Amino acid sequence: MSIQFEVMHKDIAGRVGRLTVGDKRIRTPALLPVVNPHIQIVPPGEMAAMGIEGLITNAYIFSKSADFREEALSRGLHNLLGFDGLIMTDSGSFQLSVYGSVDTTNETTLAFQRDIGSDIWVPLDIPTHPDAPRETVESELAITMERLREAREIFGDDAPIAGPVQGGIHADLRETAGREVSNLGFSFCPVGAVVPLLEGYRYRELVHSVLAAKKGLSSGACVHLFGAGHPSMFALAAAMGCDIFDSAAYALYAREGRYITPSGTLKLAEMAELPCPCAVCRSHTADELRASDQKERLLATHNLAVTQAEISRVRLSIQEGTLWELVDERCRSHPRLLDGYRELLKAGDLLERSDRATKRRFFYRGDESCQRTEVIRFQRMIPRIALSSKALILCGGPEPQDFEEVLELRPPFGAVPRELSETFPIGQNEVPAWDDAMLASAFTGVDALLAANPETEVTFSASPDLVHHIKKRFPDAVVIS
Ligand code: GUN
Ligand code: ZN
Repeated sequence: MSIQFEVMHKDIAGRVGRLTVGDKRIRTPALLPVVNPHIQIVPPGEMAAMGIEGLITNAYIFSKSADFREEALSRGLHNLLGFDGLIMTDSGSFQLSVYGSVDTTNETTLAFQRDIGSDIWVPLDIPTHPDAPRETVESELAITMERLREAREIFGDDAPIAGPVQGGIHADLRETAGREVSNLGFSFCPVGAVVPLLEGYRYRELVHSVLAAKKGLSSGACVHLFGAGHPSMFALAAAMGCDIFDSAAYALYAREGRYITPSGTLKLAEMAELPCPCAVCRSHTADELRASDQKERLLATHNLAVTQAEISRVRLSIQEGTLWELVDERCRSHPRLLDGYRELLKAGDLLERSDRATKRRFFYRGDESCQRTEVIRFQRMIPRIALSSKALILCGGPEPQDFEEVLELRPPFGAVPRELSETFPIGQNEVPAWDDAMLASAFTGVDALLAANPETEVTFSASPDLVHHIKKRFPDAVVIS
């Protein structure tokens, strides 16, 4: 019954994979909607019909509920909820983070999760608030790690237990925690205590923390971003290598009359139109939805449908190799998401190592594209280009016939030998009219080429508008036009 994870496609550090526990199997990235047994606003049976393969519910609520406790123990969770997909249960840790204490123990909650037939059980980890003093984060992390060891000792190595990674916003603690969790043999690893970061739009710190956890974790671990359910950040999180999300947002937002879109949330009260292809939005006008006595349920159904559609879009973009374009698009919908995107780009050197070799395309979408993994990889390869004694770099100028070695300036990458012009990313990139950022990036590539070929006499053939620019940037070079 151990938890298995296979990766089928990769893009950046993101993956499309398959998570298997016993006879349950789901495609990842996946969204596990949060189901509250007391308020089943969208019935789990309906979720299955929306393409949802797994859900998460709270074992602590079941264990403390007069209505549900015995029923869950006798009928089992799947039967009780009317859902035969994958069901993960949380332990009560979230209540611990909200209320400060819970009336259960690590062993009790794990045994209860096993006894109600949960597919993935979560120990009683401690989600320390990110703004707590470092000593608190450290001491509570030590307790979490002790509980993970205890879980393994009591329930064995094959029990389908998740290994949460804590450590707050301290990169060193997250990385060490990730490494220890992997060393203990956990293959399903939620990154915990990020809800306050998400709620505060602290995406820069989120990216910093998740990347640190990922560094410590085994690359084969399935990574769950605990409490992340807004579709606007799925692409960013998937690019870091997060495989599982869980959303209560679809229901919580519906209660407050908030309409989720892939790029943000709108207030239904202020909307003139419902700009979404889901069944709810196509069969109601905004006025009809506002007036409906089923408003909350319909809004939750819409919220879940757009959230699920974004998961499909992320999986598709990973298969195509267009995840950077999706990250760029989504992260421009809020300035704080842009902060997160820029933090991700700072880790380009690390991400380049896990990125795939070829992709469908490289679309330039502005300055940030200059820091993409494809540019880093191309520029890393430049020192291997060996030029002969005389070379011409075409920068939009004429091509004299007396050069045996001709390269083309291809911003944002650098100067590209003709034999590479069909290979990825050169043959598959689309850029607009050259801008300063992509020229600067290309010139960095030319620097590397010149440094690797100090004996070569290089001539630049520039378009009239570039002559001055190139002379200034490469004062020793011959420039024709
Ligand atoms: N739900 C949201 N964050 C957390 C977390 O860090 N741990 C657990 N167990 N549940 C969560
Ligand atoms: Zn809709």
